[in-house]
Amino acid sequence: ILEKAILGYLENNNDISNLEQFAEQLAAENKSEINHNDIDSAIKSLRGFGYIETHDIRKESWVLTEEGKGYAAAGSPEVQVFLAIPAEGITQVALKKKLDESVFQRGFGRAANNEWVEISKKLITRKVQHVDDKVRELLMKIHANEAVDQAEIEALKKRELIQKQTQKGYSPVKKGPNYAPVRKKFVTDLTRESLQNGDWKELEFKEFNLNAQGMPSKFGALHPLLKVRKQVKDIFIQMGYEEMATNNYIESSFWNFDALFQPQQHPARDSHDTFFLRTPSTTKELPEDYVERVKRVHESGGYESRGYGCNWKREEAEKNLLRTHTTAVSSRILYLLAKEAQQPPFAPKKYFSIDRVFRNESVDRTHLAEFHQIEGWICDRGLTLGNLMGVLEDFFKRLGMSKLKFKPAYNPYTEPSMEIFGYHKGFRKWVEIGNSGMFRPEMLRPMGFPEDVEVIAWGLSLERPAMILYEIDNIREMFGHQVDLGFIKRNPICRLGLSHNIE
Ligand code: PHE
Repeated sequence: ILEKAILGYLENNNDISNLEQFAEQLAAENKSEINHNDIDSAIKSLRGFGYIETHDIRKESWVLTEEGKGYAAAGSPEVQVFLAIPAEGITQVALKKKLDESVFQRGFGRAANNEWVEISKKLITRKVQHVDDKVRELLMKIHANEAVDQAEIEALKKRELIQKQTQKGYSPVKKGPNYAPVRKKFVTDLTRESLQNGDWKELEFKEFNLNAQGMPSKFGALHPLLKVRKQVKDIFIQMGYEEMATNNYIESSFWNFDALFQPQQHPARDSHDTFFLRTPSTTKELPEDYVERVKRVHESGGYESRGYGCNWKREEAEKNLLRTHTTAVSSRILYLLAKEAQQPPFAPKKYFSIDRVFRNESVDRTHLAEFHQIEGWICDRGLTLGNLMGVLEDFFKRLGMSKLKFKPAYNPYTEPSMEIFGYHKGFRKWVEIGNSGMFRPEMLRPMGFPEDVEVIAWGLSLERPAMILYEIDNIREMFGHQVDLGFIKRNPICRLGLSHNIE
């Protein structure tokens, strides 16, 4: 309303000389409040667009002190003293009693100096019939911003009844070069239409607010798992590993279990632990001669092994499933490598994969029915457990974990096997971070690898390091239908190797 009123007033008037007063009056008429900030922002905006002209000035004005305010209300102390004296006179003691101590102290001497009172030995009496309270009048004038003589001002100042106040103000407000009685509408965009019809000449463009917060832009975001995955992949690539093609989630039991010398009675092959497929429930093709060798090693061993002494069933091996580990892919690739190895020269190989696996598990804070595995292995002549430990140390150091411990473990397809532990500084304990081992002869020899070729291998989940890096303790917050998409957008880039959690 202030902007409107200023423009409206200037239509018929030359200027607004006292803006504060103008605003005060306007506020009173509208029964609202207009403060200094309102005035400032209205003036800045109107002046910025050339509607008005005015410049900033420092305005000095006199305002009443607390004491001054008191006298403006109740009268000057000298008058109060005068009025307290009855016609018949009063003793000084009685007069003192009738008045405030400060009023008596400040007013009595002045009333005497003004020759308003007569002081005899016994009584104080009035010397005149009537007095004017000039001081009070002056104070009221000053309060109302009315002009007062300089000499009077000096006197009041000396009595500390008034004080100077400097305020930001404006010189008289006049019409500016772009004056209009009503403000034009702001526009934010220069449109094709306004260019074509010439409107743009008249339009008032909203100024850029370079301090405004931008609109959150709509963008895609990489899932934290993908970010960690990319870093792990880079580490493998730097170490010279090739990536295995892991794009088939469906496997046959043969490659997932049997080729890995996992016995057919193994509890992991139970439907409580593995998702089997209904359609198609079985695989169509298996490499027949190799199947034969796998059957033999399960049933009666060979290669210095006794085997399981069981009756190996092909139907069991044909069952389709959602792969329970990426080692199923490793067994396929190793089988192909073993074939190549039949024709020397033998070429050592390093492979890795990072992809999804499935387990029929009950879901909790640390388990999901699907998760991601990181897997790596090296196939070469004469590899030892020492090589495996060295490679693991190199690999995990690059992940940011330089303190490792190994614990003997069991896997049907590796011997020896080791669980890998890293030291978690936050939890102050060793946490399991992976599993590893040397693939068994019962697995490698039926594939056709020469006797001195060994494969050292290890696997870990992608979720574990991601959760440690992002400090998430419930896996369901990171993966699955309960994930907050905002989290996916906001999560920072975490650098493996810079984690302060794991040593
Ligand atoms: N396949 C194992 C698992 O699922 C990981 C592993 C890979 C272990 C390679 C040893 C060698 O936990």
